Amino acid sequence: MKGLILAGGTGSRLRPITHTGPKQLVPVANKPVIQYAIEDLRDAGITDIGVVLGEKGRGDIQRFLGDGSEFNVEITYIIQGEPLGLAHAAGCARDFVGDDDFVMYLGDNILKQGIKQFVQSFEDGDYAAGIALQHVDNPEQFGIATVDDDGTVTELVEKPNEPESNLALIGIYVFSPTIFDAIERLEPSWRGELEITDAIQHLLDDGEAIDSHVVEGWWKDTGKPEDILDANRLVLEEQPGSRNGTVEENADVRGHVDLHENARIEAGAVVRGPVSIGSGTTIAEGTYVGPYTSIGPNCTIVNAHVESSVIVGDCELTADGRFVDSLIGRGATIGSADDLLPAGQRLIVGENSQLRL
Ligand code: G1P
Repeated sequence: MKGLILAGGTGSRLRPITHTGPKQLVPVANKPVIQYAIEDLRDAGITDIGVVLGEKGRGDIQRFLGDGSEFNVEITYIIQGEPLGLAHAAGCARDFVGDDDFVMYLGDNILKQGIKQFVQSFEDGDYAAGIALQHVDNPEQFGIATVDDDGTVTELVEKPNEPESNLALIGIYVFSPTIFDAIERLEPSWRGELEITDAIQHLLDDGEAIDSHVVEGWWKDTGKPEDILDANRLVLEEQPGSRNGTVEENADVRGHVDLHENARIEAGAVVRGPVSIGSGTTIAEGTYVGPYTSIGPNCTIVNAHVESSVIVGDCELTADGRFVDSLIGRGATIGSADDLLPAGQRLIVGENSQLRL
């Protein structure tokens, strides 16, 4: 069994963060989103992994993952070029996959329970494909499966106007190589993409059996800022915490805090977990870091109150303000304008930034 992670796409819903890097490298609890997919595949025993790259952030992803050895996997890069849909991306991996079965994992998805059971169930049966599903409240926005009482998949529709069920395809699939013939027969959908959902429907039309697996634990597609914040909360909730950095005497630290090497919580700072603090970051006196916050490496936080937020890294937050539900990109500086004249807020804000003051 091989693995295939799709890491193309433009990340338009995560702008401005994705102006300067791919969405698969946005950190959740101080770990890039794509690393969760790599670890899920590896933990299911899949170490021969293809990563399909688009134009955006190609070099950044290659630099981060390298040859995979740091993650105990072996990575082959496959260039998709123009993003023409998930089925197109999968089709680009035909030579890499060869005659093997493979798990296809969307590189911006995070799943609590891993994929072991899902892969096992496919291997135990005689299926052309397996799909992971979850009940959702907004089925119009997903690929939707209709499933019999005994779990047999009867129909798949991509983003239906009138959904027959609320069981969404969650972006994790297992395929036998027969999927490639189905992909070759696809026509672009209304959104101009070759849909993997349509390719699986072709398999059904051909009389092939499709395994389905309803995922119990949480799952997040991290396409939008609020999804990143949600995923960050969910991951931090389960994180045990660690103390590799320094906590000064008279710092008030409670709850699970994952403190990376050379991070420092100074006297007079207050931290309430679950929180993750990256290497080389300083939380100074007068600062409050509240639950569900991840602060990336090499940040300085002075005086600010931060809660339920993701600060990517190399940031300076010295304004005496309260920051909640915020996603702050790499290298951002938020300081005080109190002693400046004329009085007023001073913003240098990139394209597609969102501020609520
Ligand atoms: C894609 C798939 C869709 C699936 C979803 C899961 O949608 O086309 O079937 O339900 O991923 O996140 P997209 O993110 O391209 O809108």
